[in-house]
Amino acid sequence: MSVSKIKALKGERPVVMVTAYTASVASIASRHADILLVGDSLGNVIYGMDTTVSVTMEMMIAHGRAVVKHAGYPLVVVDMPFGSFQESKEQAFRNAARIMKETGCHAVKIEGGIEMAETVAFLTSRGIPVMGHVGLLPQSVNALGGFKVQGRGEEGLDQVLRDARAIAEAGAFSVVLECVASHVAEPVTANISVPTIGIGASNACDGQVLVIDDLIGLTENTPKFVKRYAEVGGQIDQAIKAYSDDVIARSFPEHDTHTFS
Ligand code: KIV
Repeated sequence: MSVSKIKALKGERPVVMVTAYTASVASIASRHADILLVGDSLGNVIYGMDTTVSVTMEMMIAHGRAVVKHAGYPLVVVDMPFGSFQESKEQAFRNAARIMKETGCHAVKIEGGIEMAETVAFLTSRGIPVMGHVGLLPQSVNALGGFKVQGRGEEGLDQVLRDARAIAEAGAFSVVLECVASHVAEPVTANISVPTIGIGASNACDGQVLVIDDLIGLTENTPKFVKRYAEVGGQIDQAIKAYSDDVIARSFPEHDTHTFS
């Protein structure tokens, strides 16, 4: 998979993206996804943080490296964490280049609209493919005053449209649209030349992304826009209970099966 192939999917077929943070999930998801996103949502789902604000470059690089090593066909995109790109376009380039060198990923993702357009242009013109991210920006949760649906009303729609257009025109190869009202995705998708990838943004987008732990049913309170395709949390619970029962009953390990002679 490549950035140009992802761009060419617009109008052809929907882009399939899912987050991955570990080697085992990367190798399974590689069979079905076009893009693996090492999202900074790892702060929430792997490290139990309340927001992604505290996620570090070191966390993104460690998980990015594991995913790249075990991803086959898909494009691997690594999120730039809060504080690693907002200060200046030069800071953004230094950190994006570090992420690419140390993980081997194909592209980085940057949250932000018009205010980030100059940075996106600086990176893309210097060999760093960038995925944009507009609508709800989880890294700005403190400024937004909570995780709120974006793009409500005419004014809200105009804002998201302006943001997506600015990021696409600056050279992003696709744009994530997160948690926006249902009337937003269609005009945004029609007005930018690169694929929109939605999360809580309706099926009018050019593709979809979900956080893997939500998709497989490993998180407890999933947002409305999530479809749970499995209940892996329940299976883990049953498996550990069965193991615990066996250990207490001394029926594991079994003499013939699990023991060295
Ligand atoms: O960090 C992440 O997982 C993301 C997706 C929600 C798009 O940015």
